[in-house]
Amino acid sequence: LANGLARTPPMGWNSWNHYQCNIDEKIVQRTADALVSTGLAAVGYKYVNIDDCWAEGERDLRGNFKAKISTFPSGIKALSDYVHSRGLKLGIYSDAGYRTCSKTMPGSLGHEEQDAKTLAEWGVDYLKYDNCYNDGTRPQQRLHILSNCSIIYIRIYSHYSLRGEENPAKWAGWYGNVWRTTGDIKDSWESITSIADQNNVWGRYAGPGKWNDPDMLEVGNGGMSLEEYRAHFSIWALMKAPLLIGCDVQSASRETLRILGNKEVIDVNQDSLGVQGRKVRSISGLEIWAGPLSKRRIVVLLWNRSNSRAPISVRWREVGLAPSISVTVRDLWTVQYNFSSE
Ligand code: DGJ
Repeated sequence: LANGLARTPPMGWNSWNHYQCNIDEKIVQRTADALVSTGLAAVGYKYVNIDDCWAEGERDLRGNFKAKISTFPSGIKALSDYVHSRGLKLGIYSDAGYRTCSKTMPGSLGHEEQDAKTLAEWGVDYLKYDNCYNDGTRPQQRLHILSNCSIIYIRIYSHYSLRGEENPAKWAGWYGNVWRTTGDIKDSWESITSIADQNNVWGRYAGPGKWNDPDMLEVGNGGMSLEEYRAHFSIWALMKAPLLIGCDVQSASRETLRILGNKEVIDVNQDSLGVQGRKVRSISGLEIWAGPLSKRRIVVLLWNRSNSRAPISVRWREVGLAPSISVTVRDLWTVQYNFSSE
């Protein structure tokens, strides 16, 4: 969407992967504080995004959203003031249907303008727009209303309603800055490898202001090894995915922070050229992924998905370089980790 936003993929945190519906304003505030105190905010993680389950089950008498009294007693405006006072931005969640996916709160169907107005009044900077329980209208029709009256990030989610429709990569760029291309991520190797492959095919639709979203990060949630989390983070960065942390930042380990905070890997993701890297070769689980960066640089990822250790090599030609050219190579993980080179 050409609204001047998301010239590089959005970075921040989202409550869902770690907390699901067990979310409240204290967690959001403490996470905002932790993003600042860990230094993650300083390397770019600016959005603090509340996912599903933040509102009362029904709207008020005027039809407005009401924050859930038991978990968000101070209200969303106060929370957005808090987050803004830390130099961060607030994101929130709604749904294009009657109810959100958790069913615990109303969706925005039929209330699009009203909700866009409410969110603007609250100072919300980012909207994740899910698509459960819709009425069967093509999502495009209703998104049109929303994108016309909002000045915020719209993150479109359409997976549940695809029903033979085209992948959002083909149309969502007219309505939002980011769209989901896959089902929900899980904290497992199988999940991230399969999601990376699914997201890979839509690469040509991505660019400044419009990004494919293979879902939020699982780094730090405990289901994978550090090597696997490094692979997960590297491939998400190369694919120009939004980098939305999905763990408990307050108690994140030093190793987790080192992965999420690897500035050079983040720089790959935030590169001004904005071209999604792609898979260039795969032979028995040994893969090469690569993509162009600004200033005549390229990013190359050697990804061993097989069950054993194995050497991987890459030919200059495969990544778009002339055979006899000489280059400077930099390993973005040895910057912080001393791998022995074999
Ligand atoms: C489905 C989405 O894919 C998830 O990321 C999360 O937002 C849930 N819905 C919330 O119900």
